[in-house]
Amino acid sequence: MELQASLFFLILIFLLYLLFSLLIKPKLWCNCEICSAYLTLSWSKQFKNLCDWYTHLLKNSPSKTIHIHVLRNTITANPENIEYMLKTKFHNFPKGKPFSIILGDFLGRGIFNVDGDSWKFQKNMASMELGKTSICCYVFDIINCEIKTRLVPLLSKQDQVLDLQDVFKRFSFDVICWFSFGIDPSCLELSLPMSKLAMAFDLASKLSAERAMNVSPLVWKIKRALNLGSEKELKRAIERINLLAKEVISQRHIIISFLLAGRDTVASGLTSLFWLLSKHSNVVSAIKQEADRIIGENKELTSFDQMKELNYLQATVYESMRLYLPIQFDSKFCQNDDVLPDGSILKKGTRVTYHPYAMGRIEEIWGEDCLEFKPERWLKHDGIFFPQNPFKYPIFQAGFRVCLGKEMALLEMKMVTLSLIRRFQIELLTPPSPDQHPRFLPGLTATFSDGLPVLVRNIQPQP
Ligand code: HEM
Repeated sequence: MELQASLFFLILIFLLYLLFSLLIKPKLWCNCEICSAYLTLSWSKQFKNLCDWYTHLLKNSPSKTIHIHVLRNTITANPENIEYMLKTKFHNFPKGKPFSIILGDFLGRGIFNVDGDSWKFQKNMASMELGKTSICCYVFDIINCEIKTRLVPLLSKQDQVLDLQDVFKRFSFDVICWFSFGIDPSCLELSLPMSKLAMAFDLASKLSAERAMNVSPLVWKIKRALNLGSEKELKRAIERINLLAKEVISQRHIIISFLLAGRDTVASGLTSLFWLLSKHSNVVSAIKQEADRIIGENKELTSFDQMKELNYLQATVYESMRLYLPIQFDSKFCQNDDVLPDGSILKKGTRVTYHPYAMGRIEEIWGEDCLEFKPERWLKHDGIFFPQNPFKYPIFQAGFRVCLGKEMALLEMKMVTLSLIRRFQIELLTPPSPDQHPRFLPGLTATFSDGLPVLVRNIQPQP
């Protein structure tokens, strides 16, 4: 009886909310070409991924900005707009409530999910820790140890087929857990089942991201209120994470943000990088030649300082993420009416998304060869790496809220790449065709829907 009454009450709230939404938001449906394609999913007949369709639209837009009215979403690939949002008018483009509500159950009030004073406080604390010089050597040692004692022995077991995406996820989870709270979840021990924490984590981030795909937040909010379907699953996964995290820490939220930030992103970056390398043996040879020159033939990497001299390797990692980046787009909410530098008018409450995945494929930004994988574009004539304007390449975001783990992520990606390509020959199980392009799962970070199955062979002699 009590259950029936509460169900009736919830349905009543739902109907009232629906009526309210219809009255104040007349844009539940829009007949413009883009909105119709979004709502009917007709874009999926021509494009493998939503990000590819957005790229197509952004490329063809003269201002490099488009509007999805039914989502109240303005999407831009225009570097001037991005500088405006992330730096010039930073205060008018917070992450905003809709985003923090979507991720609130999972991340709580962690750094990823807050604005204002709470963000400033956590950022200062985290920057103090991550900014210490000693931290680089500490990180170098953790990564080096995980590579030598787990990653290399795992791949050395004769010729074998492995899902590299899964291996990289386990690897980066071990590293970030070790770094963040000094525990070793041993995810890379393939004989052990994936840790309960890692599995609950996967599920919670997938389900949280799926919330954002609904045209109206009402859908998931009702499911959450009634504890149904995916929302019930999400609740359980979060309970599991909290329980496991509480075992090791008392202040859980900033740590959970760090796990999310540092695990899936690095694994995603490495997966795409190895996918690209398998199609570009010239780049693999150039990385090896540079390593032989700087580190010495058949010699091991010994210090953090050696990494700084590997310009071609750095260029390769940057170039890989120009095309296949871990966080394909990122959104803010416009706090007060505003106008972007390209003239786009924004009403208060509009979601504004910048789209670095599309940017990497736009000729006006990267030149006619933008679709080619060419690390050389990051090198000066003397072979020294030079960075680009961060608003043209906002892979780690840019401006005031730039990623705090950028250096750690780059170090991890470079060390893994170097160690693996000098020791192993890694081939895709299905030989790549030139126009082959991955399909991604919907989620907060880019994940190949079929993993990255590869055949691994030892190369002799080993460094
Ligand atoms: C290739 C790997 C990585 C990429 C592409 C990346 C990218 C990003 C991006 C785009 C953001 C902005 C997100 C937003 O505001 O919505 C961000 C923020 C952040 N990242 Fe990373 N990240 C990576 C690795 C890491 C690692 C390894 C750590 C931790 C050690 C980390 C820690 C953070 C933190 C704490 C923030 C929040 C900064 C703030 O809000 O002020 N990231 N990252």
